[in-house]
Amino acid sequence: MKTFYIETFGCQMNAHDSEKVTGTLLARGYTQVEGPEAADLVLYNTCSIRDKAEQKVFHRLQQFKRDAGKGKVFGVLGCVAQQEGERIFERAPHVSLVAGSASYTRLPDLLVQIENGGRRVTGLSLDTEETFDTPYTRRDNPHRAYITIIEGCDKSCAYCVVPFTRGPERSRTSASVMAEARQLAGSGYTEIQLLGQNVNSYRDPSEAGWDFARLLREMAQVDGIRRVRFTTSHPRDFVRDIIDAIDEFPTLCNHVHLPVQSGSTEVLSRMRRQYSRDEYMRRIEWMKSAKRDIAISTDIITGFPGETEADFNATLALLDEVEYDSVFSFKYSPRPNTHALALETQLSEEEKGRRLTILQERQRSIQIRRNSRLVGTLEECLVEGYNLATGQWIGRTTQNRTLNFTHPVFSEPRDGRTLAGTYASVRVTRSGPNSLAGEAAAAASAA
Ligand code: SAH
Ligand code: SF4
Ligand code: F3S
Repeated sequence: MKTFYIETFGCQMNAHDSEKVTGTLLARGYTQVEGPEAADLVLYNTCSIRDKAEQKVFHRLQQFKRDAGKGKVFGVLGCVAQQEGERIFERAPHVSLVAGSASYTRLPDLLVQIENGGRRVTGLSLDTEETFDTPYTRRDNPHRAYITIIEGCDKSCAYCVVPFTRGPERSRTSASVMAEARQLAGSGYTEIQLLGQNVNSYRDPSEAGWDFARLLREMAQVDGIRRVRFTTSHPRDFVRDIIDAIDEFPTLCNHVHLPVQSGSTEVLSRMRRQYSRDEYMRRIEWMKSAKRDIAISTDIITGFPGETEADFNATLALLDEVEYDSVFSFKYSPRPNTHALALETQLSEEEKGRRLTILQERQRSIQIRRNSRLVGTLEECLVEGYNLATGQWIGRTTQNRTLNFTHPVFSEPRDGRTLAGTYASVRVTRSGPNSLAGEAAAAASAA
């Protein structure tokens, strides 16, 4: 068995785990293929944050039921694997491997069992102090690299499966994080994205004892690194020192993703988020009073059990007050094992959807307004690629906005040369709800 295919669902932490799993497989002599048909080993790295996400993997597995026993080996990794465990073998008997992210340090060992014909191999223990730290990571993007700094989550938000699927919090040592960053800078990466379910509770387990703000400051000073991003921040653990660090180091991108979930203190309390609306707003004020213009984004859940019309209106009012630069919003989805299952007054799908639509429309008009203010400004973009359909380069600003642009000299990739991976200075000429458009100001050089 020598070829493998991996498909990834879910968040950036999963995307990065897949890069590590891929690297580990390549190091064992496997070859990656583009589709499941040609693969001897088919892996799904799954997400279970909402029911819809969870169902995807079972649809995929269903399609290959007929291939059972034909030498193809199926493995389910990630959050559904951890949540469903051995039940996956019942629902999809052709699966041979089920492993959650807290067990990936055992991956080489699990692979040996699979290679030796193991039929029901599992890695499901959450009882680990270790993080999945491997020298074999195979990154998908040549310019922007993810680094996991903390795994798992110690919060217990009433709606959320993550504490069950990713286990308790484990921070990596600052020495290993910094070594990885320096090595990445040495091999040409210019943007680092620090990952964790709650990066603010990062605590260096070694004697150095760095907190998150300290890690940010050190990261900002790594030679060759031009941009540092981080996600996700939990409002409860978000301290002012993080804003101070962003003010001090332009290398730290001026964008903070600070999920609020609801604008109603009542709902927040039932969600067990550990902050009130006022406490959340204080953090927003820190950002608004910073020297740099910090873009703010958030996550919101509509129709949490017991959410009244007044609670929902409080969330809409919060949108107006904060004026987020972008919002990820979701209908509440009841999840196994979570506290919110026991709450009475579940709302209908229809009502959750109605609120979601209203919220998204409100936010759309806020974004139209906010983005239009940027017309005329000059923005530095990391060029991500070229869009053949529109004939524009795709750039990203430090505030994490997409800025599509044309270039006076370098109108398209040519003779193997591209602007991707370079930084361009772009004049914004037009704006929409979700992106900006512009023209490169100076003739940026092609890589
Ligand atoms: N650790 C991050 C978020 C992880 S999940 C944090 O604490 O903010 C990403 C987002 O999915 C959450 O912020 C929340 O808005 C949403 N989400 C999580 N569980 C959900 C559920 N059961 N139903 C709907 N949305 C959910
Ligand atoms: Fe889930 Fe809350 Fe942990 Fe985020 S902080 S991963 S929402 S339990
Ligand atoms: Fe999904 Fe697991 Fe991430 S549930 S959002 S893949 S932590």
